[in-house]
Amino acid sequence: MVTDYDFLVLGSGIGGLTFALRACRYGRVAIITKKERAESNTNYAQGGIAGVMSDDDSFELHREDTLKAGAGLCHEDAVDILVKEGPDRIRDLIAMGARFNRDDESGLLDLGREGGHSRRRIVHAVDRTGWECERALLAAVQQQDRISVFEHYFAVDFLRRDLGSEPKCIGAVVFDTRAHRLVNFYAKATLLATGGCGQIYLHTTNPLIATGDGVAMAWRAGVPIANMEFIQFHPTTLAIEGGHSFLLSEAMRGEGAVLKTRTGDRFMPRYHELADLAPRDVVARAIYSELEKSGDRYVFLDITHRDPDFVKSRFPTIYQQCISLGLDITKEPIPVVPAAHYSCGGALTDISGATVINGLYACGEVACSGVHGANRLASNSLLEAMVFGYRAAESLQQEVREWMTVELQPYSRQCERVSEVESGVIGLQRRLQTVMQQKVNLVRSNRSLAEAAQEIEEVERESRAYNPEMKVSVARYELRNMIQVAKLIVQSAISRKESRGLHYNTDFPDRDHQLGKRDTILSRA
Ligand code: SIN
Repeated sequence: MVTDYDFLVLGSGIGGLTFALRACRYGRVAIITKKERAESNTNYAQGGIAGVMSDDDSFELHREDTLKAGAGLCHEDAVDILVKEGPDRIRDLIAMGARFNRDDESGLLDLGREGGHSRRRIVHAVDRTGWECERALLAAVQQQDRISVFEHYFAVDFLRRDLGSEPKCIGAVVFDTRAHRLVNFYAKATLLATGGCGQIYLHTTNPLIATGDGVAMAWRAGVPIANMEFIQFHPTTLAIEGGHSFLLSEAMRGEGAVLKTRTGDRFMPRYHELADLAPRDVVARAIYSELEKSGDRYVFLDITHRDPDFVKSRFPTIYQQCISLGLDITKEPIPVVPAAHYSCGGALTDISGATVINGLYACGEVACSGVHGANRLASNSLLEAMVFGYRAAESLQQEVREWMTVELQPYSRQCERVSEVESGVIGLQRRLQTVMQQKVNLVRSNRSLAEAAQEIEEVERESRAYNPEMKVSVARYELRNMIQVAKLIVQSAISRKESRGLHYNTDFPDRDHQLGKRDTILSRA
């Protein structure tokens, strides 16, 4: 098998595919993906893609909304790029065949609204926008013979070749999970686009693949990791047996759904002038606070006042999922709780998606481009992945020119088979998830963080019995990565001595204005 490519992409979500489709103009691309190609966080994105696509909107307004949600920590240059280049990337998707909702009469895009947005600007495909983006992108990839997709390949670590004082990434060592062997994939440039880390929590909207592998790999390779304390909890996930943590899109509130307590109290107007459409951190904390007061396990999301036919056609996936669990959302309010949803921090990049390591780029949830600050604005995530994936590909021409000939040895090692469901490994994963859920939730304290740090260390100590270097399995690799990411989140949270955006510490309940725009940056070196 040829494992020497011009460009290597880790991850097959919207960022990785956007990059691959652009980079294949300059060379051959290999996309490595942990499961089937469509299985990515992107695929589960319901709400949509924010973008300035109508006459009553402007870059300035999208910029302002993004900065406001970001609680003073967004990098303004990155936000400018996001809002200005975003609409072109949305048009690229449409040109590729993505079918977004349009107004029946005018034929114009039917733009939705979500929390923190001052205008209707959410481009969507009913309530499965990510699925539609992924479908269109994969169809486009299929037509490119310069792109090869490797399914069921798990990226383990980057390959580095240090030339003088300049570290250079020359690809990655990858675990072929079917043949059970480790293989080196060499490339002139590598894009990290492996998505998020929601699975380090017990309750998350993220699919099982989201175990933070990319952040852990970047950390081990020496890339600084920024702002990991800002884990976004989505305010509204399903709280009924069998459907736990299924996402109920913020677009429902955009279409008039309201939050209520068990006694029918509409509490959000007391917390923010935008009420149910306040930024996510505010809504999630308001729910937390109502639950603390009442002792209830959930609050309710009520859309029963809207026309049932509208609800069924606008939210078909949500409607069907709830019906399958015995709940008719057109007739009954929906029990909801917040769950871990999105990491605003990640591998630190510049505005071209470049990391400090030559030849290593990152985009999307695994990266920290500076766009989201302390709290991501709704539906800015697919947009960010596309904008910075595209920019990374555009800066590659330089990379290709600078590529030096290095002796590359083909490498392949057969590994001993280990069960993917070893009870010890699964048990340690659960313990870690429980610690994060209980102690590093959307409200933290000095004590809870210190306890979390100690318990994670204990899990790490016990995990040494499953050292991935000896006998390998995806579950073992994931455990190692999950532990690493949990440590980065806790360490970042401990070092931020204030509350801001998604990070709320009861021992420092206020924002420290002296800190200004200080990112939390952890470096291994
Ligand atoms: C949602 O549909 O509420 C999620 C979209 C997002 O995370 O921006």
